Amino acid sequence: MKAIEIRNKYLNFFKKHGHSVIPSAPLIPENDPSVLFTTAGMQPLVPYLLGEKHPEGTRLTDYQKCVRTNDIDEVGDNRHLTYFEMLGNWSLGDYFKEESISMSFEFLTKELGIPAEKLSVTCFAGDANCPRDDVSAEVWKKVGIPEERIYFYGKDDNWWIAGEEGPCGPDTEMFYDTGKPACSKDCQPSCDCGKYVEIWNNVFMEYFKDKNGYTKLAQRNVDTGLGLERMSMLLQGKETPFDTELFKPIMEKLEQLQKQDYIESRRIVAEHLRSSIMIISDGGRPSNIDRGYVLRRLIRRMIRHLNKLQINLDELSTLIDINVDNLKDMYPELENNRHTIKNVILEEKDKFVKTLTNGEKEFEKEIKKLQETSSNKIVGEVVFRLYDTYGFPPEVTKELASEHGYEVDLKQFDELFKKHQEKSRQGSEQKFKGGLAEQTDETIAYHTATHLLNAALKQIVGKDAHQRGSNITSERMRFDFNCDHKLTDEEKKAVEDLVNQWIKDGLEVTKQEMKKEDALKSGAECMFIEKYPDIVTVYSIGNVSKELCGGPHVSNTNQLGTFKIIKEESSSSGIRRIKAILQKD
Ligand code: ALA
Repeated sequence: MKAIEIRNKYLNFFKKHGHSVIPSAPLIPENDPSVLFTTAGMQPLVPYLLGEKHPEGTRLTDYQKCVRTNDIDEVGDNRHLTYFEMLGNWSLGDYFKEESISMSFEFLTKELGIPAEKLSVTCFAGDANCPRDDVSAEVWKKVGIPEERIYFYGKDDNWWIAGEEGPCGPDTEMFYDTGKPACSKDCQPSCDCGKYVEIWNNVFMEYFKDKNGYTKLAQRNVDTGLGLERMSMLLQGKETPFDTELFKPIMEKLEQLQKQDYIESRRIVAEHLRSSIMIISDGGRPSNIDRGYVLRRLIRRMIRHLNKLQINLDELSTLIDINVDNLKDMYPELENNRHTIKNVILEEKDKFVKTLTNGEKEFEKEIKKLQETSSNKIVGEVVFRLYDTYGFPPEVTKELASEHGYEVDLKQFDELFKKHQEKSRQGSEQKFKGGLAEQTDETIAYHTATHLLNAALKQIVGKDAHQRGSNITSERMRFDFNCDHKLTDEEKKAVEDLVNQWIKDGLEVTKQEMKKEDALKSGAECMFIEKYPDIVTVYSIGNVSKELCGGPHVSNTNQLGTFKIIKEESSSSGIRRIKAILQKD
């Protein structure tokens, strides 16, 4: 069964069970600077899990584009992916364990045709905060999973939370038995020998965790996630996702082009190219910080492996086309963005090629220095610097070194690399943590100011100045928009004056729910039209601004203070970026 058929079956099945099908949110969360990428289907739904009413009701289902980058250095083995698609269904205070588990079992066995004998499940074993989940285990028994295939594990395995704070709860996980021999007599789902593969996770979200511990949520939710690539691989009897139709055309092309044969490198190229395409299509651009840096690393790592396969970098354009053609039925937005995707990747390739040349020069310098000493070993610090600053993979440094008769200290490099990885992992966890809960008076005020700025730019700069992105912290806002020129001082001043006038006017901010088509007809602004469900929330500010938006906002513009542009600069080609602050009066 192809991935797209699994996705369609899933959405139709839950539709039949009363769920509204909602669109995937973009990979890059809007107005949320503290999260790098959307990493799970529940993430865009957090306000609704916490009790806000969802316009589409209490039963939802979707496919969600996700990127997880904790594992970036492991891609190339046979299962890790940075981009993946998560199928999910939600109960927002509607059904709970019994119905959730029964539906999952029915979907797996009847719709996908997985024999019940191939399934094992796990439930939460209980701790001081939350009792053992016998209820789920009983339901599993009732639907047909025998007791010996129901396992109980603690918080490490059967508790789900995104990051450190937020809605959470015990989960029950479903595992597929691949039929491989058990690695030992104790082999069970928690074992990662490869016999059991986790296929679906149903989280029973009835708690909220913050610094002070756990509290019960006002409603009991269900949040589930099924990894599409993994399911396709299992149902097609393949060993890795790279053997499915999702990656087949690109893997075959790479094999045809390569002059050196490295399976790992082909997988890395195929995977990173797909992730980069998806991120760029949703508005991501390479840079030196945060999500832009992740994208940069993905593109550069891909290029290094194209080099390793000795594939001419001029082939990149064809490789992008192959991917877009292969994926556009699943992600129709890729066709529209094909041009941009190519431009961004090729531009980054050119930059990186230059960097590599600089790296070679740097390497030569190091060799000269070494020649003046009696050592024949390049120390780990240098190998790391070449890697970190010049994007030189250690194996390339090693190869070059041996051509000059030198060795490299890879052990020391590995230590430095581990330290660096640990730091960046802590960094991303920190980011993720902030993202879900942080909505302060300051960030809310900036959010409203974003709408005013968007409207003012249209009046002063031109009606085609559309929003391309935004980023808010409690100290400042950043706003990207299309524009083919640097704003003049007069334009900047006029924009500031107009926003401040609207603030002074004390315009009311009002919220209205309506059909998406009506909202668009009424001229409401919207950045990613495909992101929104059929019923949308529209925020209006007096009669100067109208935008599709999830909120929240201040109730009157007179709460904003004084708006001041502190910087206007180029963000990427055809896109300008404004940084602005709100000064308290
Ligand atoms: N949010 C849950 C997960 O990502 C379903 O596994």
